[in-house]
Amino acid sequence: MATILDGKALAAEIDKNTMLEVQKLSDRGITPGLVVILVGHDEASQLYVRNKERRAKKMGFHSVIRNLPETITETELIQIVQKYNTDPTINAILVQLPLPAHINDFHVTMAISPQKDADGFHPLNLGKLILNQANQTPVACTPSGIMEFFKAYNIPLDGKRAVVIGRSAIVGKPMAALLVNANATVTVAHSHTTNLSELTRKADILVVAVGIAHFIKADDVKPGAVVIDVGMDRDVQHKLVGDVDFKEVEKKAAYITPVPRGVGPMTITMLMAQTVSLTKWSSE
Ligand code: GUN
Repeated sequence: MATILDGKALAAEIDKNTMLEVQKLSDRGITPGLVVILVGHDEASQLYVRNKERRAKKMGFHSVIRNLPETITETELIQIVQKYNTDPTINAILVQLPLPAHINDFHVTMAISPQKDADGFHPLNLGKLILNQANQTPVACTPSGIMEFFKAYNIPLDGKRAVVIGRSAIVGKPMAALLVNANATVTVAHSHTTNLSELTRKADILVVAVGIAHFIKADDVKPGAVVIDVGMDRDVQHKLVGDVDFKEVEKKAAYITPVPRGVGPMTITMLMAQTVSLTKWSSE
């Protein structure tokens, strides 16, 4: 049976460190400020944003939630982002994705100051990551949370074959860059990939971010692999499940993340840690 990578426990451990950093900043009269901008009424997004606010308050941050109407124009949204770029009480700006179809995500991401980029999605920051120059640079929270699992459980990456399924700017692309930077040999698969299971069966490290419940079965997994499940899907009974058929794959993998209590809790934890880092970097 696989060792379960416990996201809840690891997140709590990292949160403790973040709280210590918040205390150190507080001793210097500095409070980290995070603004989360939510456009429209997407239910899943509202839930994520509420969770972020709860954690930010618990950490002692200055936490601002900006709920904006679905009808806001791209220009108006960009003007609001620019206001926070120059607001001295705000150190980190997050625009919750997806945005309504009439707004171009990329234009909005470009408008965020790279120094206040809570998600690390700005092309300057993503570019630095790809060039392996991401020192004092924000990095996408879900992939950096996954890297923390490898570190905490002493899982070697050097020389390993990694397969990342998904090529989004939120998960797949930054994940692939982090793994390459850690000397893994990385294949990025996506919806146009043919013979996917031929690839996944060779993966020492398998990161799955497809958004389809139980997409990966035991047959798709190499014995002894490390399986990371980024999925937050609903099964037929509307229960929260991952992209990996956990019950089956657990018997074959060496390490596996569960859903819930795997990757999910790590993402918010890394966002909090990154907000504190951005605050520190800007005060140096
Ligand atoms: N929507 C789903 N995940 C994320 C994330 O990590 N950041 C933002 N901004 N939006 C998301």
